[in-house]
Amino acid sequence: MQVLVVGGAGYIGSHMVKLLVQCGFEVTVLDNLSAGYRDAVRGARFVLGDLFERDVIEDLCRETGFDGVLHFASHIQVGESVREPAKYYRNNVFKTQNLLDVMVAQRVRCLIFSSTAAIFGEPVQIPIDENHPKQPMNPYGRGKWMVEQMLEDYDTAYGLKSVCLRYFNAAGADPEGELGERHDPETHLIPLVLQAASGRRSHITVFGDDYNTPDGTCIRDYIHISDLCEAHLLALQQLWAGADSAAYNLGNGNGFSVREVIETARQVTGRDIPVEYSKRRLGDPARLVADSRRAQAELGWSPRYADLATIIAHAWQWETRCA
Ligand code: UFG
Repeated sequence: MQVLVVGGAGYIGSHMVKLLVQCGFEVTVLDNLSAGYRDAVRGARFVLGDLFERDVIEDLCRETGFDGVLHFASHIQVGESVREPAKYYRNNVFKTQNLLDVMVAQRVRCLIFSSTAAIFGEPVQIPIDENHPKQPMNPYGRGKWMVEQMLEDYDTAYGLKSVCLRYFNAAGADPEGELGERHDPETHLIPLVLQAASGRRSHITVFGDDYNTPDGTCIRDYIHISDLCEAHLLALQQLWAGADSAAYNLGNGNGFSVREVIETARQVTGRDIPVEYSKRRLGDPARLVADSRRAQAELGWSPRYADLATIIAHAWQWETRCA
């Protein structure tokens, strides 16, 4: 099978490429390297290009005849999306439409789309299942929800089949230690905590300890990158088997507070992790926890690395390579 991975040089994309290659797929990566790394693409054909260039995607699809596409190329910072909505709608929505249009024209029928918990906005119930109201609170979440709705319409009108995977907090790293998280700037909690442990940063700043949670800090559902990738593979195989389009929430169903993450990181690393407290970060809901029972029931997915200490240990293995 021929698979196109758009954004395959980034954090989640590169782990996915590794899994696809291991499973024997022929993989082509299209990435503009705006946030990814060429050396993170292992065992796949690499094409430097941007979804803005419709001709490039068109030529690629015509030449190779893909059986499926996984689309990871996206800007991912909520705060930045509020300051620069144009950047987010152009990249995450408009360029995605280019990809969908080429897929329709070239009769590539199956797409796995990286969506997000941010489409739900402030939770009205926890855990969050697929039917939870969609009230995104920022351009990042709104753009992802727009694409999900577009995909529904493209299926009805053009027969493009898709699975939208709504990630909660993707975390951890390749258990074999070859790949990991390399955002620049890094904004995510676990890599920042581990950089404070390794000495690459002086401390970790906790954004708010006055939330309505047991220890006052925000609660998130951290999901291991390998488990996320496994879900993509199952979703793709499900589409190839003729299933209908679908959307799944992906998390472990367990919430951990910022304080618990830092404490677990202290235990895993055996290092001191200096902490400072500051005010809340704008747009952070107090608690986000997934109900992933639908993915488990319909995809046959079950997380292998649900334990937070294991997620952090794999991220630490990567951090010690980078530090
Ligand atoms: N946090 C800190 N200090 C930091 C970084 C984060 O206290 O230096 C806190 C945040 O306030 C939040 C928690 O740690 O409560 C997790 O923050 P992350 O930035 O790691 O993750 P988010 O839950 O904000 O983000 C996740 C994805 C994003 C996505 C977002 C949408 O990682 O890519 O969900 O909801 F955009």
